[in-house]
Amino acid sequence: MKEIAFHSKVAVVTGAASGMGLHTSKEFIRLGASVLMCDVNAERLEEEARALGDAAIPLAGDVRDFKYALSVAEEAKKRGGADFLVACAGGYEARCCNSMVPFYEQPIEVIDWGIDVNLKGPVYFSRALMPQMVAKKSGVIVLLGSVTGFEGDGVGAMYGTAKSGLFNFVKGLAMAGAPHGVRAVCVSPGPVLTRAAMSGMPTLLGRAAEIRELVDVILFMCSENASFITGTNHVVDGGRLCMYQKTY
Ligand SMILES: NC(=O)c1ccc[n+]([C@@H]2O[C@H](COP(=O)([O-])OP(=O)(O)OC[C@H]3O[C@@H](n4cnc5c(N)ncnc54)[C@H](O)[C@@H]3O)[C@@H](O)[C@H]2O)c1
Repeated sequence: MKEIAFHSKVAVVTGAASGMGLHTSKEFIRLGASVLMCDVNAERLEEEARALGDAAIPLAGDVRDFKYALSVAEEAKKRGGADFLVACAGGYEARCCNSMVPFYEQPIEVIDWGIDVNLKGPVYFSRALMPQMVAKKSGVIVLLGSVTGFEGDGVGAMYGTAKSGLFNFVKGLAMAGAPHGVRAVCVSPGPVLTRAAMSGMPTLLGRAAEIRELVDVILFMCSENASFITGTNHVVDGGRLCMYQKTY
């Protein structure tokens, strides 16, 4: 396996103020890249980026806004163009919008949030940044899916719907990108300890993932070691999906 290094590379990470997006940003920087860190939580983003030094460039905004995606692309262009997009911004709408009721009672604003942040956000950022990758004849887009994209959810129904949409979108990205040296993959976690509550979700391994266990996969996908991987969804769930397959 080749040693992973990202010297003089430019990465765009959404959802970079916390969790996997923040840790991915930190690892990119440790391995030599500069990172355009994108998040709607401007205060936390500034604070985290400040701690990471000059290679961290905080650009606050809402991934639901295509103009924001274009402004991030403009910043990436000034730095020679994006080499990587890691689309982490997302969340379970029932929790993020504080609306723990069944789908049929969800306000339309909550439903819109679920679809727009989890599906349109990655679509907007891919659309804004991919032309730079095509022009450079190289680049990798990593979308964060979820096991909920397979399982479905009666409360946060848009979360699973959007994540399963990414399983298909990644194929389209791979098809459009392949002739130009651009790869796209989806990484779909089971429970990850970005929040303590995730430790309660069952897995075959009897625990939730450490953040590092996902970030290592994301960085591997961006590296040359993954040069033959594109258009696929990679489940990293401690065997959670296996638990529901045997019905006899
Ligand atoms: N943590 C898990 O157990 C788990 C499991 C499966 C999938 N995932 C997925 O992985 C990704 C990262 O998860 P995490 O737990 O690290 O997330 P997190 O909740 O720690 O961070 C998500 C970040 O996205 C930002 N964000 C939310 N809405 C935004 C918007 N409209 N515009 C810009 N930024 C916005 C938030 O401010 C936050 O900083 C998400 O897409 C999530 O759905 C997480």
